[in-house]
Amino acid sequence: MDQIVNKSLLNATCDASEEAIAVLNPATEEIVAYIPSIPTTEIIALIEKSKQAQKLWQAKPAAERSAVLKRWYDLMIENADDLARIMTIEQGKPFAESKGEVNYGASFLQWFAEEGKRTYGEVIPAPAGNKRMMTIRQPVGVAAAITPWNFPIAMITRKAGPALAAGCSFIVKPANQTPLSAYATAELAYQAGLPRDLLIVVNNHSSVAVGDIFCSHDDIKKLSFTGSTQVGRHLVKQCADTIKRTSMELGGNAPFIVFDDADIDEAVKGAIASKFRNAGQTCVCANRFYVQDGVYEEFVEKFIKAVAELKVGNGLEDGVTIGPLVDAKAKESVLGYISNAVEQGASVAFGGESLDGLFVAPTVLTNVTQEMDIVQTELFGPVAPVIRFSQDQELVEKANDTIYGLASYFYTGSIARAFHIAEQLEYGMVGINEGLISTEVAPFGGVKQSGFGREGAKQGIDEYLNIKYMCFGGL
Ligand code: SIN
Repeated sequence: MDQIVNKSLLNATCDASEEAIAVLNPATEEIVAYIPSIPTTEIIALIEKSKQAQKLWQAKPAAERSAVLKRWYDLMIENADDLARIMTIEQGKPFAESKGEVNYGASFLQWFAEEGKRTYGEVIPAPAGNKRMMTIRQPVGVAAAITPWNFPIAMITRKAGPALAAGCSFIVKPANQTPLSAYATAELAYQAGLPRDLLIVVNNHSSVAVGDIFCSHDDIKKLSFTGSTQVGRHLVKQCADTIKRTSMELGGNAPFIVFDDADIDEAVKGAIASKFRNAGQTCVCANRFYVQDGVYEEFVEKFIKAVAELKVGNGLEDGVTIGPLVDAKAKESVLGYISNAVEQGASVAFGGESLDGLFVAPTVLTNVTQEMDIVQTELFGPVAPVIRFSQDQELVEKANDTIYGLASYFYTGSIARAFHIAEQLEYGMVGINEGLISTEVAPFGGVKQSGFGREGAKQGIDEYLNIKYMCFGGL
């Protein structure tokens, strides 16, 4: 790792010891660095520092905050190759995807540098002549975040960008699997002129211990979490005691639907992008495929052909499109879903096998039915279960038959069908003839047990602002 030009990693890492957290390269299963586990007493002291720093930051004009975010964006773009390399080494995704994530992550800084200048209030027509009424929007205070390993940079900047633009301070606990990307990204913020106490990265062996502090500490006014529905449920309960504002970007179980009138080649392209991005380890990945009778054979044949062209390997090697799974637990879980589906009657149409190390072959399963466990679970792996269907209405019911409601996708050539189906899908996001929907300009978020709150877009900054109503009387 020493050719990676990043002072941050030297500052953030430590020698091997019992207290240190080991960071592994999932492609080689070698330890690439150790980082210190910050004691909980120190984390509490850092929250106090963050609180003090926030007061000064809030008092600055939005344009000043914006300028720092813009410089941070520029530095991320200038250092994109280094950041991407760090990400691939600790997370496993192919280098080109890591670079894509660095750009995607940086885009939230650029976007919210602008949105921070537009946190308008309102003048309200008063119901009495001797009164005037208005609202202003103010930062919530210290914002905390717990971020996942699957997008080690973008899930930080998608929260830190709006928080800092709004005038909050930000304290983040990145996943223990991917802390290096977090430290490197934060280092660029400091180089851009952001005071260290406004952006604090904390790691500890126990994510639960940090979660407990974030949820229970009265000086933390907002918690934003990206991760599983199971953990999200727990955090929301814990935040109840301090009536903390929360936003939750939780699990998904995205249906990917191909109608008889779809352009099949386009649907296959979308399916590959949506299913196999990050080896299937994203909350918005297509999780189950519904293909209508009339195009079923054609889609499955073309889909398998495209899957066969994916190249599995170390993400630093040229041409690799599928990296390893993040750890042994993830691999075991994905292989378990495959064997369970086969026991319940599914057929392995392609792949299905465990490869060396933490790799799993990209897999297509056919003869899948709605009742199978694999259809009801968030897979988080490179496995595509395909279900055949006949009628639109029956399809909508099946697509909505899940506790989740994050992303959904469908392909059709009919405008009428596009509107009817999109309106009936119980999801926060719908890709219509499109397999990749994430962008900083659109609101990302779910319904049902996929969570609440929106990230990115003009809505993203609202999560970090309180509305204050001011009533002027006796005029
Ligand atoms: C996620 O999987 O949580 C984020 C995916 C994205 O932003 O596209």
